[in-house]
Amino acid sequence: KKGEAWSARFSEPVSDLVKRYTASVFFDNRLAKADIQGSLAHAEMLAAQGIISAADHAEIVRGMTQIGQEIEAGKFEWLLDLEDVHLNIEKRLTELVGDAGKRLHTGRSRNDQVATDIRLYVRSAIDDIGVLLAALRGALTDLAEQHADTIMPGFTHMQVAQPITFGHHMLAYVEMFGRDAERMADCRKRVNRLPLGAAALAGTTFPIDRLRVAKTLGFDDVCHNSLDAVSDRDFAIEFCAAAALVMTHISRMSEELVIWMSPRVGFIDIADRFCTGSSIMPQKKNPDVPELARGKTGRVYGHLMGLLTLMKGQPLAYNKDNQEDKEPLFDTVDTLVDTLRIFADMAGGISVKPEAMRAAALQGYATATDLADYLVKKGLPFRDAHEAVARAVRACVDAGCDLADLSLEQLQAFSPLTGADVFEVLTLEGSVAARDHVGGTAPRQVRAAIARVRAQLAG
Ligand code: ARG
Repeated sequence: KKGEAWSARFSEPVSDLVKRYTASVFFDNRLAKADIQGSLAHAEMLAAQGIISAADHAEIVRGMTQIGQEIEAGKFEWLLDLEDVHLNIEKRLTELVGDAGKRLHTGRSRNDQVATDIRLYVRSAIDDIGVLLAALRGALTDLAEQHADTIMPGFTHMQVAQPITFGHHMLAYVEMFGRDAERMADCRKRVNRLPLGAAALAGTTFPIDRLRVAKTLGFDDVCHNSLDAVSDRDFAIEFCAAAALVMTHISRMSEELVIWMSPRVGFIDIADRFCTGSSIMPQKKNPDVPELARGKTGRVYGHLMGLLTLMKGQPLAYNKDNQEDKEPLFDTVDTLVDTLRIFADMAGGISVKPEAMRAAALQGYATATDLADYLVKKGLPFRDAHEAVARAVRACVDAGCDLADLSLEQLQAFSPLTGADVFEVLTLEGSVAARDHVGGTAPRQVRAAIARVRAQLAG
């Protein structure tokens, strides 16, 4: 029978149910590329150290090259009987090149092999995600530039607070995704260490050269303790935590897009290609993409919890529990990659409705703080100014008008310090332009921030 990697120790075959229960090949075969890469680096080192012959090494390279092509072409036959990606590939290698294939596993265990594969996989995922985060930041920065002067109401508690620009609002997300990129890059440092050489748990009796393998695989260093090397998955947890924060930011943005696209708000429209209709209501155009992204955030959080819980009860060193790290990790990568790709694309499909934003900013006394600041500049202590403006707002609420609708005489009734120059500070443009410091919403500052982000993205 094809398969069965350790039959000599066993007096009966593993039951079919247990085989299915313990196998990982149908999800871990996505590690195939990393597995071959790791095996080739290991074999190269074995040959260089005289542990296997140059001829065996050449055979291993030949066999692995063919296996890589078979997998690429979808012609590789993955067998449940062979449990996981590692045993499937090794068995095929032996079929192709005989004894040389059987020598590959010298000085190695699946424990350090799988830990190496996952690190290679996470490293490449981090690199992909870095590119996608940069693309999303670039797209949001373009949108910010188009709307550096577009005024909208800024909110706190979902109540109109102060006028801001839409460009400034977009740049808030650019900052968040910038920190996400930093977190991913930082996580990469701890991912990028080589477990191989730890073997099952204690190291190996062969004269291996771990630094050589590390160098071949592009790792910065080796893991310095063999027990730790094969058993911890903190690097994967850290990656999932960074991914969860990316999704937190995606989800907050999604929530805003959904609200903004509601006809009751009408601040934006999202291009048809990112929306879907209703099977019953012919008029509908729903923001499904941001809604789904908000929903998928939940599963990414769940994967983080799953991995943390997976590790917490494991004694050193490797336990089969660790095989459960893969599906949450892979799904996190898939969800993140798809979401970032679609959001970078969708940013260009957001059309802004400046009139609706402006109309909303004109409601809710968005310039009340400007009036208070004005009175402070005329010499009134801030607390008194706050009180004077609060009374003015209350009078406006009763009269059903805006602060700017009051006459100079009416305004002076709340504070005699009010002069004719007050009306400039009550305009939306005056309000945003006045917040002219690093991090402020003034269009001048928004443009400076855009230049800063662009320089960062280029460097
Ligand atoms: N499929 C296993 C995993 O994903 C590979 C390591 C198995 N090692 C073992 N001793 N059973 O973790």
